Amino acid sequence: MQLLVTGAAGFIGSRLCRVLLERGDSVVGLDNFDPYYARELKQLHLQDIAQHPNFTFHELDLRDEAGVFALFESNQFEAVAHIAAMAAVRYSVQNPLVYGQVNVQGTAHLLDASRRTTKARCVLASTGSVYGSDTPVPFDEGAPAVHPLAPYPASKRAMELFAYSFAHLYELPTTVVRFFNVYGPHGRPDMMPWQWSQKISKGETLTLFNDGHMKRDWTYCDDIVRGFVAALDNPFPWEIINLGGGNPVENARFVHILEELVGRKAIIQSAPAPSSEPLETWASIEKAKRLLGWEPQIRVEEGLSRFISWMKQEGFLE
Ligand SMILES: NC(=O)c1ccc[n+]([C@@H]2O[C@H](COP(=O)([O-])OP(=O)(O)OC[C@H]3O[C@@H](n4cnc5c(N)ncnc54)[C@H](O)[C@@H]3O)[C@@H](O)[C@H]2O)c1
Repeated sequence: MQLLVTGAAGFIGSRLCRVLLERGDSVVGLDNFDPYYARELKQLHLQDIAQHPNFTFHELDLRDEAGVFALFESNQFEAVAHIAAMAAVRYSVQNPLVYGQVNVQGTAHLLDASRRTTKARCVLASTGSVYGSDTPVPFDEGAPAVHPLAPYPASKRAMELFAYSFAHLYELPTTVVRFFNVYGPHGRPDMMPWQWSQKISKGETLTLFNDGHMKRDWTYCDDIVRGFVAALDNPFPWEIINLGGGNPVENARFVHILEELVGRKAIIQSAPAPSSEPLETWASIEKAKRLLGWEPQIRVEEGLSRFISWMKQEGFLE
């Protein structure tokens, strides 16, 4: 099938492209190389798919309404894998406006172009951070999720609601998949596994909030991509589905696993948790099991071991 993958130069988007190409799909990738992190890293993500005969790439910004529409008019997309976004909770606290522009308005351009052309089914990447800190764990997709703690999850929840209206009004089959703390090779340089493994290796101090008692439901990147592909292959008129590890890990234990893999003790300072972040994330994955036949396969010890090997291989860790 012919698909559009947005965010194709990013961590998760590039891995999704590779899997789709390997199974014979024809992939059009879109990305604007947003400068939130280095273009060189995004080029590294694209390195082994750029020359694939069934892959074409467009450097395009989702905020460019006419450009997005023209791309849909010149293709016959059967499905849209919408991965592109301004991600990162903390950056959104300092730079809130761009999150509305990209994650809400940019997604609206995509949905509108789809409904005005081939009505390609859409699978949209959202985040477990929409559940905020007042949803009981494990987070169930039926929870209202109306108290996001930062502009990033607020923009993702707004994106979801906008998408619901399109699914409802224009019969645009849409599935929202909420990712939880995705990590693995080619991971984002702003996230904990990258930041902390480098600090441990260099003997620099790392900050642990709330004495390390915060918990995150880490999900290995290949598990996420497998779940995303299952969502593409099993369209629904409208669904929201969590894709998470289903097994939250305390940050103190996460650091300990990194210490073992890096071979050095971490130097740790404590700080109170920022108000933009929940103390715990934990996905209920019953719906993903039932609707997609999906469950995560890679435990955090194994996934981090693969990540650290990749960091060393690429020269990001000594
Ligand atoms: N990594 C995680 O732990 C995690 C957790 C929950 C949800 N998500 C979601 O998964 C998706 C992918 O995240 P990632 O970790 O791969 O991030 P990433 O930053 O590596 O990838 C996102 C890509 O989107 C592109 N992009 C940003 N703004 C754009 C715009 N205006 N037009 C076109 N492209 C644009 C960026 O250049 C980047 O390549 C995002 O939607 C993110 O919100 C990620």
